[in-house]
Amino acid sequence: MSFREKLNLDKLPEHVAIIMDGNGRWAKEKGKMRVFGHKNGVLAVRDTVEGAAEVGIKNLTLYAFSTENWNRPKLEVTALMELLVSTINKETKTLMENNVKLNAIGDLTSLPERCYAELKEAMAKTANNTRLTLTLALSYSSRWEILNATKMMTADALAGKIQAADINEKLFESYLATKDLPHPELMIRTSGEHRISNYLLWQLAYAELYFTSTLWPDFRREDLFKAVYDYQQRERRFGLTSEQIG
Ligand code: FPP
Repeated sequence: MSFREKLNLDKLPEHVAIIMDGNGRWAKEKGKMRVFGHKNGVLAVRDTVEGAAEVGIKNLTLYAFSTENWNRPKLEVTALMELLVSTINKETKTLMENNVKLNAIGDLTSLPERCYAELKEAMAKTANNTRLTLTLALSYSSRWEILNATKMMTADALAGKIQAADINEKLFESYLATKDLPHPELMIRTSGEHRISNYLLWQLAYAELYFTSTLWPDFRREDLFKAVYDYQQRERRFGLTSEQIG
C-alpha cells in the first residue's frame, strides 16, 4: 500500500515547510557540478508541489535560498538566481492552471533586479489562486525576519501607533513575513542533516520535525506523503498531557 493510500485526508497538516537540502551532494555522487543538483532539484520541487495540491495541503513553504547562501561561490549564486528566474517564468502557466498562488518571504529587495521583477509578476498573476499557497523563502533567514519585525514594530511604537503594553504574540506575528500563513505543523528536512538552520524559528515552535536521508533531487510526492503519514501517527500535545488532549 502506498503512503498516498494510507493518508488520512481529514487530518492533513495545513502547512508543510521544507528545507530542500542535498543538491550539491547528489551532484557530487554523480561526478557532476553542484548546479546540476540544483537543476534536478527543480524536478523535485515540481513533483512535491503537485503532490501537495493533489492531496489538499493548503500551504507549502520551501527554503530555496538562505541569507547565508549569498556567501557561496559567485558562480553558484548566479546559477541559482538564473534557475529561479527561468523556473518561475516557465512554471507560472502551470501554477495558474492548478490554481496555485505563489508567495515569497525574505529580503526580496536584495535579489537581482530581474529575479525580483519576475517574482513580483508571478505573484501578482497568481494572487487570486486558492488551492495551494506556495511560499518560497528567498534570501531568507529567521533572525533577519525577527529583527526586521522588531525594527518595524519599534518604528510604529516611536510614531505612537502602538504602545509597549500592546505587544503580544499576535501583534508581533503581524510584523512577520509569514503574517498571512498558519504556523507549519510539519517541517521536513532532506539529506540527513538534523538542523533547523535559521528557518522559521518563531513559526516552528510546535511543529513536528521530520528528517529523511533522501537527497532533495530524489525527493518525490510519495516521500512527502510518507512524511505526512509519519506526522499523522504522532500525538501533538502543545505542552498538555495525553489525557487533556484525549
Ligand atoms: C540545498 O542543497 C539547496 C539549495 C541551497 C537551493 C535549493 C534550490 C532548488 C531546489 C532549485 C530552485 C528552487 C525553486 C523553488 C525554483 P545544497 O546545495 O546545500 O546541497 P549540499 O548540502 O549537498 O551541498
